[in-house]
Formats: sequence, C-alpha cells, structure tokens
Amino acid sequence: MGDLLAGKVALITGGGRGIGREIARVFAREGACVAAADVNLEAATDTIGQLPTEGLALSMDVADIASVQAGVDAIVARFGRLDILVNNAGITRDNLLIRMDESEWDAVININLKGVFNCCKVASRPMMKARRGRIVSISSVVGVQGNAGQVNYSASKAGVLGITKTLARELASRAITVNAVAPGFIETDMTAKLSPEARQAMLSQVPLARPGVPEDVANAVLFLASDQAAYVTGQVIQVNGGMAM
Ligand SMILES: NC(=O)c1ccc[n+]([C@@H]2O[C@H](COP(=O)([O-])OP(=O)(O)OC[C@H]3O[C@@H](n4cnc5c(N)ncnc54)[C@H](O)[C@@H]3O)[C@@H](O)[C@H]2O)c1
Repeated sequence: MGDLLAGKVALITGGGRGIGREIARVFAREGACVAAADVNLEAATDTIGQLPTEGLALSMDVADIASVQAGVDAIVARFGRLDILVNNAGITRDNLLIRMDESEWDAVININLKGVFNCCKVASRPMMKARRGRIVSISSVVGVQGNAGQVNYSASKAGVLGITKTLARELASRAITVNAVAPGFIETDMTAKLSPEARQAMLSQVPLARPGVPEDVANAVLFLASDQAAYVTGQVIQVNGGMAM
C-alpha cells in the first residue's frame, strides 16, 4: 500500500473491467476510496469487491447526464466529496467510412465524447466548490494519429483532447487540473476482438515490441491524479511503447 491518494475520493467510469478496473486497483492501493461506475453493475461490483479500501459500485451510463448526476450525487452523499474523475468508459464500433452507418457513429460519439462532456460537467461542480480537483480522461493513440476503420473512434478520442485542453483553461483558477492519457495497444477485452492480422499490424508499429498492459496506463493516470502532478494541466501523456511520438 502507498499513500499517493490517501483520503481522496475517485470516480472511475467504465470501472467494471480492463483499464478502468486496473485504475481502481492502483488508486485503492494508494489509499483512495473508489467509485467504479459502469453500465454493467455486476462488473463494477466485482471490481469494488477486489479492493482493499472502501468503495462504491454504481450503475451509470455516461451518455445519459441524468445517470451521471445520480452517480455523482450518490458519491457525495456517501463520501462527502469528489476529488478525482477518471473518464475511462469507451467503446469501439469499427468500420470503414463507406460502410459505417449512422448508428455506429452515434454510439461511439455519445459514449466516448458526450460521455466525457457529461461527466466533466457534473463532476466539476463539487470540485469547483472545493477549489481542488483532478480530471483525467483516457484518449487513444488513434485520437492523435488516426486509424483506418475508426473514423468514429478517432473523432471521439481527438475530441477528448480538445475537451481536456479547454477545461484545463476553464478550471485552472479553481486549482482543478485536467489532463489526458493516450494509450496505444493495450491487452484488454476491447483489443481481444482484433484479428491476428490486425494485432500483428499494430504490434509491428511498437518500438518496445510488446502490447501494453492495463497497469502501464493506470500508472500514468495515478501520477496525473496525485498531488505530484499539481503543476501539470492541459497535457497528454502517451502510453504506447513508442508507437506515436
Ligand atoms: N485497450 C486498448 O488498447 C485501448 C487503447 C487506447 C484507448 N483505450 C481506451 O481505454 C478505455 C478503456 O478501454 P478498455 O480496453 O479497458 O475497454 P473494455 O471494453 O475492456 O472496458 C470498457 C468498460 O466501459 C464500460 N462501458 C461501456 N459503455 C459504457 C457507458 N455508456 N457508461 C459506462 N460504462 C460503459 C464497459 O461496460 C466496460 O466495463 C476506453 O476509453 C478505450 O477507448 C483502450
């Protein structure tokens, strides 16, 4: 156990599995009380059950601002504060532009981009009152350099970088920092869907010659969420094995 986040309360969206679950583990190891929010409540409950600190599992659809508001209200009612928001919930619906239909575009934009807007809008309120806070959003290497077959996802993840830089400016006067982490190819259920050829193509672009693991991402998020990053805002940390520089 460490104490980098001792006494802090964190909301992690998409905390039911993958990178979100690992962020929950690393945060709890560093002393934070964690609220894991997910559309899959059972998965979020599993995450919380594995933590050494007090936690809260929440059913939340980040695309629905009423659901986000209910979740944040529950956190403040239970813990009396909210110090850290990690916007991690995200989906893919991959297709080439000519085959992509509007529902695939809308689903990804509503969850990955509007979801970040919703969570920032709701969670920043208690942070502004407290005059302190941390917002860390999970973007992607695909939001930085694009990727054929992911026009919806790349637009959403580039949009997250825009939100990050704008809110860093808007919220700085309240000592709330806003940063992003842009992972490359990380082994989770999301990337398990890739064909062996797509996987090999991704890996061939990684100078460190291995996929990342969720902990690689969680460690960067931990830094940005901690007091050690008090003078870091509006930045993007790329955790990608050198895939994009
Ligand atoms: N795995 C990678 O290689 C990689 C690379 C770059 C960025 N990312 C990003 O990291 C984040 C986590 O990815 P992952 O690989 O752990 O994915 P994952 O699919 O394993 O987990 C995503 C979690 O988000 C939840 N979720 C989905 N829609 C939601 C909604 N509307 N509201 C609340 N929760 C919702 C899911 O139920 C799931 O538990 C995503 O934003 C993803 O885009 C992943």
